[in-house]
Amino acid sequence: MSSEVTTAYAPLLRRIHWATAVLFIVAMLIGFYCGLQPPGTSPRRELLEVHKSLGMTLLFLSVLRLMVRAATKAPPEPSSFGVLLRFAARLNHLALYLILFAMPLTGYAFSAAGGYSLKYFWTFSWPRLVSGSPGIAHAGEIAHDTLAYVVYAVVALHIAATVWHASVMRDGTLARMWPHQGNGER
Ligand code: HEM
Ligand code: HEM
Repeated sequence: MSSEVTTAYAPLLRRIHWATAVLFIVAMLIGFYCGLQPPGTSPRRELLEVHKSLGMTLLFLSVLRLMVRAATKAPPEPSSFGVLLRFAARLNHLALYLILFAMPLTGYAFSAAGGYSLKYFWTFSWPRLVSGSPGIAHAGEIAHDTLAYVVYAVVALHIAATVWHASVMRDGTLARMWPHQGNGER
């Protein structure tokens, strides 16, 4: 695995990736559960507060992540990757980056314009940059709920691909993102 050790993502990017993975999957599962419950019921209402707070955290974490990504060098794909696999991996990563921004922004637009709660973990409320617009609220809701299906598919594919790389191909893909490389690179 030594060649992969020198071709890993920057340490900060790896930490942000795993923090994102945990927060994102929790937010996604809460969103999925809440989507099945009738509006205005408990625990949907309370869980949605947590969902929105996690979503806003992910938005700011993703801004930081993009800055780290732009300031550091991503490792080239392992040489065993063919053209098609390289393309598929890049497409999957691009879709994940788009989702990381599209989901919080559509959720925010929906809640801010629709006059719904925007409390951050029971503390302050986020400013409403769009307010009192049923059109924006409706568009945000449709986009958020429709994109949710894309999220399930793209995230499932991403995790399945990692398992496949780790257990079948054994090409060190997971090591590129693993938090502890132990060689202090970048
Ligand atoms: C990365 C961040 C986010 C992810 C992955 C995410 C994901 C989801 C998912 C999967 C659902 C279920 C959709 C359905 O079954 O209809 C959902 C619902 C919802 N989300 Fe998010 N969300 C995120 C951020 C946000 C933010 C920032 C807000 C608001 C500030 C928000 C507000 C809502 C609301 C109000 C619902 C309920 C919608 C309904 O029942 O029609 N979400 N979200
Ligand atoms: C258990 C869950 C997850 C696992 C095992 C996992 C694993 C990985 C691995 C191994 C890589 C490196 C791929 C490569 O070098 O070609 C990677 C990259 C990436 N992952 Fe995940 N991931 C998970 C969850 C997530 C989630 C929830 C998101 C976002 C919604 C995400 C977003 C990304 C992105 C955007 C990249 C590309 C990094 C870059 O080019 O900057 N991952 N992931």
